[in-house]
Amino acid sequence: MPNFINAFEEDVYQGLTAYPKKLSSKYFYDEKGDKIFQQIMNMPEYYLTNAEYNIIETHKKSLAEKFAGPTGFDLIELGAGDGKKTKVLLKYLNDEQYKFTYLPIDISKYVLKDLKESLAVELPNVDVQPQEGMYFEVLSKLAEYKHRKKVIMVLGSNIGNLLHEKAIEFLQNIQQSMNEGDLLFMGFDQKKHPQQIINAYSDKAGITEAFNKNLLTRINRELEANFDLDQFLHWETYDPETGTAKSFLVAKENLKVTLKKLHLTVNFDAWETIHTEISQKYDDHTVNWLAERSNLKVIDQFTDDNNLFKNYVFSI
Ligand code: AVJ
Repeated sequence: MPNFINAFEEDVYQGLTAYPKKLSSKYFYDEKGDKIFQQIMNMPEYYLTNAEYNIIETHKKSLAEKFAGPTGFDLIELGAGDGKKTKVLLKYLNDEQYKFTYLPIDISKYVLKDLKESLAVELPNVDVQPQEGMYFEVLSKLAEYKHRKKVIMVLGSNIGNLLHEKAIEFLQNIQQSMNEGDLLFMGFDQKKHPQQIINAYSDKAGITEAFNKNLLTRINRELEANFDLDQFLHWETYDPETGTAKSFLVAKENLKVTLKKLHLTVNFDAWETIHTEISQKYDDHTVNWLAERSNLKVIDQFTDDNNLFKNYVFSI
């Protein structure tokens, strides 16, 4: 086994030498991947974004009332992205003269820079303090800010990329950074007609396929590999019992791929898979169970007009 210089190298090595093969969706998001994800959020099939937008738009008044604290509040968003949905809330809070600071956290400094710049133009009166880093480094730093109410926000059903045990760790970490009175506001995509889920993750235009295959392009570039993207197809499954949507890249023929930087040659049998992503779908029962396991209480929930998505409010 070579000496790995970063987690990406090690994870790719482990994933491609495992059986069955796997690569983590967290590596989708390089510069190109961020752009493809923007396109995904604009696809008609990808109902999640509009549904959550609808929730925030419809319920911004009750959200603002819930979030407000006696001396204002800090609104901390994990994985802020382009802020399209958050801006609806920020605008309302600003218009209604709520006292708050917005602290977007992201690992990408480019994302944060764009967000800060666009907010400076669109909502110049909002106090924005971007925090660059991994969620938990930043969260544990912010846990020391006990001077006023914190509202931690995680939108987009980002938790759905985690298997339940990992999701519980994630929630427990958040829970530990919360004090009495603080809130967690989190989006969970809901179980629904299986076809609608399949369609959201296997669009006809091939954008989701490109999103998955971008990981191979990234490996080609960063690890000096020679994946031929045309030799793979993208496949989506959804298990309506567990609520788990799963993405795969499937080799269409016997292949040999070399990753020079890792001194690794990987063989694929025809129809062998690389598992790339899970996008978990939830119901109230499952969310309550996750909350219980994380010492959180579900105190409220909001849904969109079509009942596709829910945002839950948790307290400790
Ligand atoms: C950003 C993790 C919520 O799983 O729905 C979109 C990513 N993957 N299309 C999701 C994604 C394929 C997305 N999350």
